[in-house]
Amino acid sequence: MSFVYNADPERGREWQRLFAQRAPDIDFRLWPDIGSAEEVRYLGTWAPMEDLARFPNLEVIFSLGAGVDQFDLGSIPDHVPLVRMREPGIVTTMQEYVAMAVLALHRNLIDYIGQQREATWRALRVRPASQCRVGILGLGQLGSAVAQHLTGLGFACQGWGRTRRQLEGVACFAGDDELASFLASSQVLVCLLPLTAETRGILNAKLFAQLPRGASLINVGRGPHLVASDLLAALDSGQLSAAVLDVFDPEPPPADHPLWHHPRVLMTPHVASMTQPESAIERVLDNIARHRAGQEMIGTVDLTRGY
Ligand code: NAP
Ligand code: GLV
Repeated sequence: MSFVYNADPERGREWQRLFAQRAPDIDFRLWPDIGSAEEVRYLGTWAPMEDLARFPNLEVIFSLGAGVDQFDLGSIPDHVPLVRMREPGIVTTMQEYVAMAVLALHRNLIDYIGQQREATWRALRVRPASQCRVGILGLGQLGSAVAQHLTGLGFACQGWGRTRRQLEGVACFAGDDELASFLASSQVLVCLLPLTAETRGILNAKLFAQLPRGASLINVGRGPHLVASDLLAALDSGQLSAAVLDVFDPEPPPADHPLWHHPRVLMTPHVASMTQPESAIERVLDNIARHRAGQEMIGTVDLTRGY
């Protein structure tokens, strides 16, 4: 019985060491050294793989990321569940990144980077975090943890999801009917939605127009959530004042893309959060135990919903 790992090789060696310690009965294999294809029961992968039929006894596919939009959900055999990553390491690294981005926006870091380049000494008004309202699109594993973390830093937080959540200290909005009132009071908007047919292109001119004038955007969801030309127009008109972007369509964006050089945009190369093998191993082994016991695994993707 083997587990085939097909993602970043450096972190793969960490997974290999952890499997040897924690689950020596499972033959851990680093792609492309898969051993006998008949022995493969579990596949851990970031990207979709060609020809899953070559593993006739495959039981579970573990996405090594939280998002599963990169998989062609229609090509996954009905009897093989796809499980997305739900683990503490991916959550805390996302909390760190969004805190960094919100603080950078709230404390005018983009202005000061520009001022430093021009050797300009000009203090901007400082306001307390409690006067800055952060709205989070998506209140799942990551969005709800980010909301609670930002609340702890003193920001006023609200979130929006498909179904209503209850989070202490966070105003929770739900469904299309409540989107407009959520947007109208979000001074910093954070996208932590999964990419699905419903959410593709959601960060567009119509949505930006519903934010308070001068609001800012943090996109840590997926590149195709954003209509980049609409963002550029909103920044240039002043409807939006700044953006912090971690995800792009395509990745990396072409060298001549205007986002690279826009003075009101900070970019990072899809690093907002990363699955941490040390903590993720617990979740994967727990899910394997659940699967063997015939129980529901945590993070099983609803293929019709797309997340
Ligand atoms: P999750 O637990 O599945 O949560 C998804 C949230 O989005 C839920 O609150 C869900 O609402 C809401 N949602 C989905 N479709 C919606 C719709 N049409 N309208 C309104 N709300 C909708 O996912 P997660 O683990 O938090 O991850 C979220 C996403 O973050 C991932 O899919 C991935 O794209 C992105 N991500 C990015 C990075 C990075 O490094 N940049 C790292 C990890 C993840 P309900 O619960 O009510 O259905
Ligand atoms: C990263 O983007 C993830 O989905 O985990």
